[in-house]
Amino acid sequence: MMAANGKKIWMDGRLVNFADAHVHVLSHTLHYGVGLFEGIRAYPTTRGAAVFRLKEHVQRLITSAKFYHMTIPYSAAEIEEAILQTQAANGIIPSYIRPLVYRGEPALGVKNLEGKVSLAIAVIPAKKYLGDSSEAGVRAKISPFRKPHSDANPSFAKASGNYINSYLAGVDALKEGYEEAILLDANGYLAEGTGENIFLVRDGTLYTPGLESDILVGVTRDSVIHLATDLGYPVVQKLLSVNELISADEAFFTGTYAEIAPIKEVGSYTIGVGAPGPVTRKVMTAFQRALRGEDAKYASWLSPVPALPRATVRARG
Ligand SMILES: Cc1ncc(COP(=O)(O)O)c(C=O)c1O
Repeated sequence: MMAANGKKIWMDGRLVNFADAHVHVLSHTLHYGVGLFEGIRAYPTTRGAAVFRLKEHVQRLITSAKFYHMTIPYSAAEIEEAILQTQAANGIIPSYIRPLVYRGEPALGVKNLEGKVSLAIAVIPAKKYLGDSSEAGVRAKISPFRKPHSDANPSFAKASGNYINSYLAGVDALKEGYEEAILLDANGYLAEGTGENIFLVRDGTLYTPGLESDILVGVTRDSVIHLATDLGYPVVQKLLSVNELISADEAFFTGTYAEIAPIKEVGSYTIGVGAPGPVTRKVMTAFQRALRGEDAKYASWLSPVPALPRATVRARG
């Protein structure tokens, strides 16, 4: 679990002390899970502290809110600026950044279209989601809990309520001694982890479930598709079976929080040789170089953090 201990939290345009960042107990989002969030990281880079793929995360947040009929009262540029400000005000690096769109006013009743839409941004120290040894490979199990079909919950939206499903799958895996769960889609094909996308490697080709498997379209997944393609590996998006995972040469998870985590076991099966394979290691190295600003080709993925916070996004509400 991640210790949540930053200094300042941005709430609707004001930086408030961490201990004072309160929301009412009868808030709509707390009761019904109708909130949208992002997980973003900032890293120390060759150009100073920088946020990784800020634009893509902010765009996904706006799209997520659209699915739930919530209009964030800030433009994409303002949200990006607010995230950079909050990162600068906290000065934590490497960090994990958590923007949340929510309805924080007391309001019971599901069909709430009037409630004020708020934005909060927290910055806390970064940890490895799948544990400190995750780079050596994690043990995962196929979860008995499936991903809901997008006809029920649109998987493109990173909605708070979606994570009751991740919670059930993740806790079941932990209680059985695994580090992570792999969820199947409603039709029994591979979908994703509780907070990661999944890739397989077979004969030098990467495979990952396509959007038809009701996955969250991960920003790290997109980074890996670019990096692997640039390294010369074909990347195929398609329906993937559990059989294809068990018989893969290599497999790994991708996610902002988890970064790239090789999968060494699935249930009672060893994947490949039970250690990070050569393709996984090459992709991991390319990813680390990109996020540290060591590869000029991916410089546009990094948004430099200003040295001092500047208050340019106006307070609302
Ligand atoms: C369910 C789920 N799938 C995939 C991902 C990976 O997405 P990203 O790489 O954008 O962090 C996440 C994390 O945000 C997630 O929660």
